Amino acid sequence: MNRRAQYVFMVLMIGSIASFQGVVGDARAQVLNMTCSSEKENNRTLFVPNFISLMETISDLMRQFGFGTAVSGSGPDANYGLAQCYGDLSLLDCPLCYAEARTVLPQCYPYNGGRVFLDGCFMRSANYSFYDEYLGPTDMVLCGNASRKGLNFQASARQAVSRAVASALGNKGYGKASVAVSGTNETAHVLVDCWRSLNQSSCQACLDNASAAMLRCLPWSEGRALYTGCFMRYSNIDFINKETSNGISRGTIIIIVISAVSSLVFLAVIAAIGVYIRKRRYIQKKRGSNDAEKWVKVLRDSNLNFKHSTVEKATGSFDEANKLGQGGFGTVYKGALPDGREIAVKRLFYNNRHRAADFYNEVNIISSVEHKNLVRLLGCSCSGPESLLIYEFLPNKSLDHFIFDPSRGKELTWEKRYQIIIGTVEGLVYLHENPTNKIIHRDIKASNILLDLKFRAKIADFGLARSFEEDKSHISTAIAGTLGYMAPEYLANGQLTDKADVYSFGVLLLEIITGKQNNRSKDTDYSDSIIAVAWNHFQSGTAEEIYDPNIMLNENSQSSNTKNQVYRVLHIALLCTQEVRSLRPSMSKVLQMLTKKEEDLPAPTIPPFMDEKTMEFNDMSENEFYPLNAGGTDSIATVAHSSFYAR
Ligand SMILES: *[C@@H]1O[C@H](CO)[C@@H](O)[C@H](O)[C@H]1NC(C)=O
Ligand SMILES: *[C@@H]1O[C@H](CO)[C@@H](O)[C@H](O)[C@H]1NC(C)=O
Ligand SMILES: *[C@@H]1O[C@H](CO)[C@@H](O)[C@H](O)[C@H]1NC(C)=O
Ligand SMILES: *[C@@H]1O[C@H](CO)[C@@H](O)[C@H](O)[C@H]1NC(C)=O
Ligand SMILES: *[C@@H]1O[C@H](CO)[C@@H](O)[C@H](O)[C@H]1NC(C)=O
Ligand SMILES: *[C@@H]1O[C@H](CO)[C@@H](O)[C@H](O)[C@H]1NC(C)=O
Ligand SMILES: *[C@@H]1O[C@H](CO)[C@@H](O)[C@H](O)[C@H]1NC(C)=O
Repeated sequence: MNRRAQYVFMVLMIGSIASFQGVVGDARAQVLNMTCSSEKENNRTLFVPNFISLMETISDLMRQFGFGTAVSGSGPDANYGLAQCYGDLSLLDCPLCYAEARTVLPQCYPYNGGRVFLDGCFMRSANYSFYDEYLGPTDMVLCGNASRKGLNFQASARQAVSRAVASALGNKGYGKASVAVSGTNETAHVLVDCWRSLNQSSCQACLDNASAAMLRCLPWSEGRALYTGCFMRYSNIDFINKETSNGISRGTIIIIVISAVSSLVFLAVIAAIGVYIRKRRYIQKKRGSNDAEKWVKVLRDSNLNFKHSTVEKATGSFDEANKLGQGGFGTVYKGALPDGREIAVKRLFYNNRHRAADFYNEVNIISSVEHKNLVRLLGCSCSGPESLLIYEFLPNKSLDHFIFDPSRGKELTWEKRYQIIIGTVEGLVYLHENPTNKIIHRDIKASNILLDLKFRAKIADFGLARSFEEDKSHISTAIAGTLGYMAPEYLANGQLTDKADVYSFGVLLLEIITGKQNNRSKDTDYSDSIIAVAWNHFQSGTAEEIYDPNIMLNENSQSSNTKNQVYRVLHIALLCTQEVRSLRPSMSKVLQMLTKKEEDLPAPTIPPFMDEKTMEFNDMSENEFYPLNAGGTDSIATVAHSSFYAR
């Protein structure tokens, strides 16, 4: 396959993933109840890394089997873990539920374990082997009180429970049943599931006890039993995910599609990686062993360290009401410190020790980075099993809230937009030309440009993509969101250089000028991307037709001065989005073009995907990788899903 064909194929695949999203099941990631152990961990230095490695091992198992147990460490600081998705969750939904479980459970820290029941999965950890336990003092029943049901419903519910329990015993502990309620159009639905670590007799005892207790919720329409060894629920709502009966479920199809896409990418990248790995090994040796404990210690002793309890208090115990959004690497909350400073807290979930170490490293790097156009990292809370990044709070949210909204867009006059552009360029120049750590952002887009009170641009999430790999399960939503920003050579071959940022920045400029989002998720026809549209209008001298009406509102904007400026920015945008990587200007060159207005600009060459004859990528011979590229672990998902807080 030539590269053009590869590229088009990928886009088609990605398109089909996006259109699949509607039919994926429900991960039911709502937390029902959490209980924590009553004993504290007795050596934090041992406990935290054990816990992190435990969650990572289980994470891999959950992706493969929907169930996992793992042990890490030994003695009183050992960590035993178990997690399981209920039987109707597909392997695609399961990691989503588990991702929630593993962000919630660490809240038990500093207690040495706990259990959390979600509507779709369960997780428990403790410092001893509990895999045989099936009844215990924390067993409980939750009754839903939405409505009271008549005798017919009650009879059907009982019948469904006994059928589900009976079918579970021959089916690894998982059973479900639905029984129609006579005389109504209703149905009673039941799901039961034992932890797969139990033998049949323990499972039966758990299900028997749990069902007797749960049915005492009748005549209410909803009941759940949260037991030491099993979970069950009855409801008049059809909450159970449908499996496609014979063979492959939809989730599996999507996973296959995703694998196909990823393997294409990886095939193309593999040769380059070979060369690269050698380089990287050398670099890692030079850096010394990248040791989690070392970074924990460095941070704990620095003033960057925030106590978990301080942050918890600041955000009202991570109150939903303080939630600003869900970004690529975690949930973002607003908070206020005792001294009145407002903060944005990014509550991360990382899931292995290696990444954790990288993360500490990263914090260390970016805390040494300070620039007026970069979101300031105030510190982190890194010594608990949960990682929190504390940023300055920016009241005006992100650029996409304004430019893509016809009414809010009015607030951003051309003058303000121009300032935002200059600020973004300066921030990027700083990252790209940082003498100690050249940083490629990888995900420049409107939602990662935050705005302060005076609408000054602040780039968010720089450097994070490198340390955090998204869950594979996020790939579908991830790609759809930022496909339009990715440079062609990066998308097709994984070649990451600062010119990939330049390309994304060019797309961003076009969005700022036109007020339209370069959303590539809905169709795969590139002739109407904003790049193509801008190129065509630029060539035929009708550029003004595509300007966002909002930037031409005030009198000032009608001046020829302003018009020239918009036109020049459009010209620069087309230079940044040229297909041939080496022709794109560096960010410092862009800054020069913007500030030296008298300097002539070269004519832009054609952007990617415009003309059949030029479809082949022209600069494939440039095979150099920057050491900062995460190489082997890189995937589209890593890059694509990291808005600071997506909407
Ligand atoms: C879990 O259930 C226990 C016992 O009913 C209750 O005390 C506790 O508040 C619940 N916790 C949550 C997080 O719902
Ligand atoms: C915790 O364990 C580490 C490693 O074994 C040890 O060096 C340290 O002294 C222990 N700390 C406490 C408080 O026991
Ligand atoms: C679990 O931790 C507690 C408190 O740290 C300790 O007393 C107990 O001995 C530990 N249990 C095991 C099995 O090591
Ligand atoms: C099942 O497991 C329980 C708890 O470990 C044990 O007491 C019981 O003997 C086991 N039953 C069978 C049939 O193996
Ligand atoms: C259900 O219970 C909650 C809390 O106990 C209560 O606020 C609510 O009004 C109840 N709803 C019904 C329909 O009884
Ligand atoms: C089911 O019952 C409710 C009550 O009629 C009704 O609103 C709904 O449309 C009906 N569907 C039925 C009952 O077939
Ligand atoms: C509950 O569990 C105990 C112990 O396994 C068992 O003896 C008892 O029969 C169970 N109760 C019910 C109601 O099933």
